[in-house]
Amino acid sequence: MSETRKPLVVGNWKMNGDLAGNAVLLSGVLTGVAGIDQGAVGVAVCPPFPYLSQAAQVLAESPVQVGAQNVSAFENGAYTGEVSAAMLSELGCAWVIVGHSERRAMLGETDEQVAAKAAQALRSGLGVIICVGETLEDREQDRTQAVLARQIEALASLAQQADPNKFVVAYEPVWAIGTGRSASTEQAQAAHAFIRAGLEAIGFRAASKIRILYGGSVKPANAQGLFEMSDIDGGLIGGAALSADDFIAIVRAAALARG
Ligand code: 13P
Repeated sequence: MSETRKPLVVGNWKMNGDLAGNAVLLSGVLTGVAGIDQGAVGVAVCPPFPYLSQAAQVLAESPVQVGAQNVSAFENGAYTGEVSAAMLSELGCAWVIVGHSERRAMLGETDEQVAAKAAQALRSGLGVIICVGETLEDREQDRTQAVLARQIEALASLAQQADPNKFVVAYEPVWAIGTGRSASTEQAQAAHAFIRAGLEAIGFRAASKIRILYGGSVKPANAQGLFEMSDIDGGLIGGAALSADDFIAIVRAAALARG
């Protein structure tokens, strides 16, 4: 965590939830954030598309922002099943996650599509959270840096339009997602520093101001150690974001790590 970057903790609910359960979770998040210094940490939740309106309504007067989990690379038109950036903005979203490894691996999203989605989202005024990360095989074969470099270099065309308040990268090692096996603080810090240097190398002049979140089995028990690392600026939280208590404990850890 650095003094100059305000940490951000984002809950990625993935394909979970229902109206009644979301109401309970959102209310728990609202109550929990009320006790945390808003100047010390940004907070967002990313429910599935059908629940964005519900979340936006419940969180309207609160500091908790709403994000989506995906967006179309196209502005509008005959793209059945897709959702545009303008629609997300209109519903009250501040953020959208793009390039999550589950979409890259299971749905075949390419680096180029990820960059096109991010560009479209930025054009519509949304903030983007762009996910990168290596698989277990990549790590075991010593390809972590090569994979991260490829994923980051694909974002070069965004360097000029990227406002550091709206451009966030999430390092999510695939082997740490949903496995209970987080990256060590040293592994995560090394990857984050590499990503930041990579952003700078491809023309992101404000790379030192860009937040890089860690994602992959973040829990209340390991959050503080991760967030204390100098290039880790918060977290993208999966499973633990489905419990208001766990999520709030992680938000609190981010707020404290900055102090
Ligand atoms: P877990 O926190 O469940 O490992 O998921 C991380 C993630 O994929 C967030 O986008």
